[in-house]
Amino acid sequence: MSTSRRNVLLFGGLGVLGAGAATLPAGSVEAKSASRLDSSQMPRPFQAPFVQAPMLQPSSTGIDPADGLPVNYYKLTEKAATAQILPRLTTPILGYNGLFPGPTISLDKGTKAVVRMRNQLPAQHPFDGHPLTTSTHLHGSASLPQYDGYASDITRPGFYKDYRYPNFQPARTLWYHDHGVHFTALNVYFGLVGQYHMHDPLERQLLPQGRYDVALTISDAMFAEDGSLGYDDNSHSGLWGDVILVNGKPWPVMKVQKRVYRFRILNASISRSLRPTLSTGAPLVVVGTDGGLMPTAQSVANYRHAGAERYEVLIDFRKYATGQRIELRNLSNNNNVDYDFTNKIMAFDVTDEPVDTTDPTWNRIPTTLTGSEAMSLTAGQSVKTRRFRVKRNDSTNMWTINDDSWQDVITSGYKKIIADPAHNSVEIWEIENSSGGWFHPLHIHLVDFQVLSRNGRAAFSYERGPKDVVYVGEGETVRLLMKFTPEQGLYMMHCHNLPHEDHDMMAQFRVGRLEGDLDPNDPMTAARAVWDDEVG
Ligand code: C2O
Ligand code: CU
Repeated sequence: MSTSRRNVLLFGGLGVLGAGAATLPAGSVEAKSASRLDSSQMPRPFQAPFVQAPMLQPSSTGIDPADGLPVNYYKLTEKAATAQILPRLTTPILGYNGLFPGPTISLDKGTKAVVRMRNQLPAQHPFDGHPLTTSTHLHGSASLPQYDGYASDITRPGFYKDYRYPNFQPARTLWYHDHGVHFTALNVYFGLVGQYHMHDPLERQLLPQGRYDVALTISDAMFAEDGSLGYDDNSHSGLWGDVILVNGKPWPVMKVQKRVYRFRILNASISRSLRPTLSTGAPLVVVGTDGGLMPTAQSVANYRHAGAERYEVLIDFRKYATGQRIELRNLSNNNNVDYDFTNKIMAFDVTDEPVDTTDPTWNRIPTTLTGSEAMSLTAGQSVKTRRFRVKRNDSTNMWTINDDSWQDVITSGYKKIIADPAHNSVEIWEIENSSGGWFHPLHIHLVDFQVLSRNGRAAFSYERGPKDVVYVGEGETVRLLMKFTPEQGLYMMHCHNLPHEDHDMMAQFRVGRLEGDLDPNDPMTAARAVWDDEVG
């Protein structure tokens, strides 16, 4: 790649060295490069071996005296570290236990978890100096409000907080990530992200386990000349890196046996959406969505995958020849910025390693999976329909939901709410994005929902499973059906394009309890972070 091509700057902005001056134009955009690396330092597809994050072992286990359920105790420490992402240069990151992505937590439904999250980060973020106060969200868990990563419930460097996770929901792929108020994008982009897998007996019986149950945390990045991460969110429109990372490595290659594999695909990009597809034209068999197993598996040639959505996908490698390479590619979607190699994600090299055919999942492609509570709801149960408009406020350059922002919530002393569903009630929430130039992955905390319709038509086949993030594309209106259970209290809803969330497309709703009621689960006061005496 020539210097002149590499120096093409996006949008008349300053590239990785500062915020762009203009916003992203509508329609798909192609550019040559976002990184400022010398071409000899620039990673290329399919050079790096595939790796997975290590599994986190509990530091101890116990029994909850209140209900007799087993509890796993885990320790995680947020800290600055370096990662080997590029072929020769090292990259400073912020990571859970110093890793990007952080260690994977794996447990069974019915085992509770207490995660001691220690903030040992430096006082200030290495990129822009913002204070490194954090709040940790376990995305996909119906946690109590004080353990849900409420953005303003911050833990300062030198403090820790014990997060309690109930793990009573059906098996699913969850992920934990920073949710610190107004700086989530830069904190997650620098590495504060990890997967969390909850198993149950049905899922163990139907789907591949162990080394055939593979976490793929996909993100994009851009790099400065010295190998550090660049950051340019184009005036809070979004960040589009030119390097695609899977589990923190650029376009890796994974060796696979001739059998069926299960991939837990998390798009952890802060803005980019993906459209995964296989180079052979073979289908991706979607078996799970954000909230776990779908009622029926869905075979697709490709599918649209926004930030924070999780799709569990089976790929059948039985028919390929030893030595064959299959690429997982990205067809992209409107309003992403694409570069030379963002059309590739990773590759699989088929080996002749013997397959264990006593494992019944080696050749199983299930069709009927299970009905979750969210998928069993019917529109007739809904007692209320609420409408929300996601939009940009051009005069303030802010993103809002019904003109609300998180700053409004802060200003109100955390009182202002956008909706007040009754406890255990069923409602329809309609989300309208009338913009032709933006897509918004909308996330609603606490609930699993069903996508009832998209623009008055059926939901896409692959999203007919329990969801907690919905891709609200350009000019789209979606209708969602959900039950506000089991907890009461304050929960966030927001766009998961993280620069949008930070500036400031986030609001809160209150389940049950009336204003003025004493709230035992007040997210700002019920479980405060405490000073950490342990050092290290
Ligand atoms: Cu994955 Cu409120 O976030
Ligand atoms: Cu958005």
